[in-house]
Amino acid sequence: MKLGIIGATGAVGKVFLDLLPKSKLNVSELRLTASERSIGKKIKYNNTDYIIQENSEDFYVGLDYVFSSASAEVSKKAAEKSKKHNAIMIDDSSEFRMNEDVPLVVPEINSESLKSHNGVVAIPNCTTTPLAMILDAVRSEYNLKRVIVDTYQAVSGTGNLAIKELLDQTKHYLDNGTISDKKNVYSHNIGLNLIPHVESPLDNLYTKEEMKMLYETRKILSDPELKISATCVRVPVIRCHSESINIEFDKPPNINQISKILNQYNGITVLDDIKNDLYPTPLFGEGKHDIFIGRLRNDISNENAINLWVVSDNLIKGAALNAIQILEVFEKIG
Ligand SMILES: NC(=O)c1ccc[n+]([C@@H]2O[C@H](COP(=O)([O-])OP(=O)(O)OC[C@H]3O[C@@H](n4cnc5c(N)ncnc54)[C@H](OP(=O)(O)O)[C@@H]3O)[C@@H](O)[C@H]2O)c1
Repeated sequence: MKLGIIGATGAVGKVFLDLLPKSKLNVSELRLTASERSIGKKIKYNNTDYIIQENSEDFYVGLDYVFSSASAEVSKKAAEKSKKHNAIMIDDSSEFRMNEDVPLVVPEINSESLKSHNGVVAIPNCTTTPLAMILDAVRSEYNLKRVIVDTYQAVSGTGNLAIKELLDQTKHYLDNGTISDKKNVYSHNIGLNLIPHVESPLDNLYTKEEMKMLYETRKILSDPELKISATCVRVPVIRCHSESINIEFDKPPNINQISKILNQYNGITVLDDIKNDLYPTPLFGEGKHDIFIGRLRNDISNENAINLWVVSDNLIKGAALNAIQILEVFEKIG
């Protein structure tokens, strides 16, 4: 496979390069690109130095696949060049996710949709992926009626600059005992704080991120009527998104059966024993491929509903691993 990576220096790009040699992919040629400021920089991959190339037309010539993980704007231009040179682009940005001719894929759920595409395949937002996997698991036994989800999203979801902002603001407090008024990425301090606002607000007063969770989940599950209400919150955590999810069914659920169904699902591990302090935390989930579920319980306010807590590494299953798994499916189906 001849593979190009756009955004190789980014938070997701670096994790992708870390996971690639451990995957089933046989990469015969690797090309890396990033923004103009990184051209010429060296990146070590598999003990070899790779030079960051310019994101120009030449980059795409002869590639089989492109993984684009920079921004929606960059992906839009990359898709044109990628199609022109007959490469398939796996896109990490939000640019194409809702396009009808673009499969939006979580391989555990809908890898068959990869059979038909028009040169671009999208991966979901990093908060959507774990939610969709959980709903896909439980719908095998219970009809979904309504979902309420609150997220606790790590700063790495916004990229390298946001990680630096959290660390700088925290260090400022430790060094000076005061809150820093320096912020470039978020509209409020993220150090020693949280921000109930992820991405821009829309006319209905939900944010873009919250509506992505609804629309993307419906598309992945092929369930256009599914009811989801999300509140997305940025928290001072470096890596791993957490979500508190309430799922209502059309009949009372058996919580032990649900725990079993979830634990048997590919890519999900249940770690649930609160009396012995057992539940997943972001620090526990960091670097791991699975998504982890704890705090599973019946909802005391609704006999047809359950509550659960999930932790997922946003850079791994939320981005790089999902893309690698899609490439592995392509290699298998040819
Ligand atoms: N972070 C997550 O958890 C996550 C999860 C799912 C999806 N995503 C999506 O993945 C994408 C990347 O996110 P990230 O968190 O990795 O961001 P990031 O850390 O800010 O990295 C952005 C990357 O894009 C590169 N870039 C900027 N302009 C470019 C251009 N014109 N041509 C080629 N490369 C360019 C940057 O290069 P320089 O280093 O040279 O600036 C850097 O490598 C975004 O679309 C994001 O929405 C992120």
